[in-house]
Amino acid sequence: MMHKDTTVVLSKTMISAGSSVLAALSEDGLKISGALKVVDGMSGNAVSLAVKNGFKAEKGELKMLYPAGKLHAVLLLGLGKRAELKQDQFIDGVADGAKAARSAGITELHVLADSFGVKDSIRGITLGSMLGTHRFMKYKTKDLAKVKNLGKITIMVEDPAKQQKAFDEAKIVADAVKKTRDMVNTPPNVAGTEEVAQYAKKIAAENRLKCTLLEEKDMEKLGMGCITAVGKGSAAKPKIAILEYNGGAGKPVLLVGKGVTFDSGGYNLKPTNYINNMKDDKAGAITMLHVIEAVARLGVKANVVAAVALAENMVSGMAYRPDDILKAYNGMTVEVTNTDAEGRLVLADTLAYSVEKHKPQAVVDIATLTGATMIALGHFTTPIVGTDEKLIGQLKEAADATGEKVWQLPLWEEYGEAMKSDVADLKNSTDGPDAGVITGAMFLKNFVGEAPWAHLDIGTTVWSKADKGAKQKGATGVCVRTLIEFVKNWK
Ligand code: BES
Ligand code: MN
Ligand code: ZN
Repeated sequence: MMHKDTTVVLSKTMISAGSSVLAALSEDGLKISGALKVVDGMSGNAVSLAVKNGFKAEKGELKMLYPAGKLHAVLLLGLGKRAELKQDQFIDGVADGAKAARSAGITELHVLADSFGVKDSIRGITLGSMLGTHRFMKYKTKDLAKVKNLGKITIMVEDPAKQQKAFDEAKIVADAVKKTRDMVNTPPNVAGTEEVAQYAKKIAAENRLKCTLLEEKDMEKLGMGCITAVGKGSAAKPKIAILEYNGGAGKPVLLVGKGVTFDSGGYNLKPTNYINNMKDDKAGAITMLHVIEAVARLGVKANVVAAVALAENMVSGMAYRPDDILKAYNGMTVEVTNTDAEGRLVLADTLAYSVEKHKPQAVVDIATLTGATMIALGHFTTPIVGTDEKLIGQLKEAADATGEKVWQLPLWEEYGEAMKSDVADLKNSTDGPDAGVITGAMFLKNFVGEAPWAHLDIGTTVWSKADKGAKQKGATGVCVRTLIEFVKNWK
C-alpha cells in the first residue's frame, strides 16, 4: 500500500448532513451570516454558542466542535482582524485547520471559503490545504493503514466558475512546492547527480522545454575547473542541466541553482550532527527545476532559462583538496582554502557559462550556500543580496505577495577583501566566520558578469524542524512561490 496525499477540489457550496466543515470568523464583528448561518442552523447553533462562550476569532485560534444536529464536526478558525492578516498567517491558519481535522480522524473536510471574507482567499485556502496536508511518506512501509489520512478537502464557493482560474493557478504553485519538498527529502543514495539530471530531463520533456545536459567531459573541455574539481571525489559525476522555456520575447531571465546532492564537506569533512541532512544541499537546483516547470504550466509570457549545477562533494583519493588552485570558466583562478565551501565553486562555473551563453536580462541564483544564514536571520527569513536594487525590489515584492520572508543584506565592495587570495585571484573561503552570507555572495559576484544579479541563500530556511502551519518537518520548498511570482510579474 502506498500513502496518498490529500486531494483538494473546488465546488459549489453545499452543506450536506454528516459533513465536517472548516469555517472562519474574524474579529471584525464576529458576524455569522450567509453560508455560515446555514452551518449554524444545521449544527444546533454550535457556531453562535461557541462565540457566546468565548471563541474570539483571534489570529490562529482553532476550535473543534462536535455539534448536536446534522453535521459531524465544525472547525472554527480565527483570522484576527482581516486588515492585519498577512498571507503567510492566512495560509498557516488553513493548514493548521486541515491538520487538526486530520488528527481528529476526519477523512473529508469541507472548507467554507465564503466565511473567510478575504479577497483572493482561494489562493491561500488552496495553498494551506495542499501544503499543510502534504507529507513525505515514500519510504514508510509499516502500519500505513493506521496513519490518519485526510483523503479530500473540498473548497466550497458560491460561484466555482469564477474561482476556477485562481484555484488552478494555486494548485500549480502548490504542486511545485510539494514536488520540491519531495525531491529535496529524497536521500542521496537515490537522488544522485545522474538521477537529478534525469529528473530535469523528465520535467523538460513533460513541459516541452529545451534541455541541455553538460557532462563531466563537456565541462572539462569548456574549462570549468571549479565544478569538475568539486565532483572529483565522487563516483557520481558532476553535471549541469539547462532548461529553456520560451513564453515571450527578448532575452531570458536566468535562474541558477546549487545542486550538491550530498555535501560531506570533502577533506574539510563535516563532523557528526553537521553532516547529517546534507541531502538538502541540492535544494537550490530542485527549486529552480520546479519554478521553470510551474512557469511553463502557467503559460507565463516570458523567456526563462534554468541552469542547475549538480555535483556530490565527497572524500576519496581523487577528491580535490585544500591548497588546490582551480581555474574557473571565466578564467579566474581560485585557491581552495576549504573544500566545504563547494557551493560557490559549482555555481561559479555554472553562472559564468550560462550568463555568457544566454545573455540574460537578469540573473537570480538560489543556494544552500552557508550555515551563516542562521546566525544572520534565523530560521524563517531568507537573506537576499545582489547588484541591482530594482531586481532585489522585484524579488522582495514577490516574496511579500506570497507571504514568504526575505531580507536584504548589503553587498558593499569592502566585503570582497576577505575573498582575496595570496596566490590566486580569489580564495573560496574566508579565514573566519564573519559575514559569511555576504562573503559567500561576494565570491559569486565575480562570475555573474554585467547583468543585474540577485542571490538567495536558503542555507537555513531550506529545512523545517517543526510540523506547523504550511510547513512539515523536513524540506520546506522555500522560495519556490516567491520565484514563480517573480517570473510571473517579470517585465
Ligand atoms: N551546504 C553548506 C551550507 C549549509 C550548512 C547548508 C548547514 C545547510 C546547513 C555549504 O556548502 C557549506 O558547507 N558552507 C560552509 C562555508 C564555509 C566553509 C565558508 C559553511 O556555511 O560553514
Ligand atoms: Mn559545504
Ligand atoms: Zn554545500
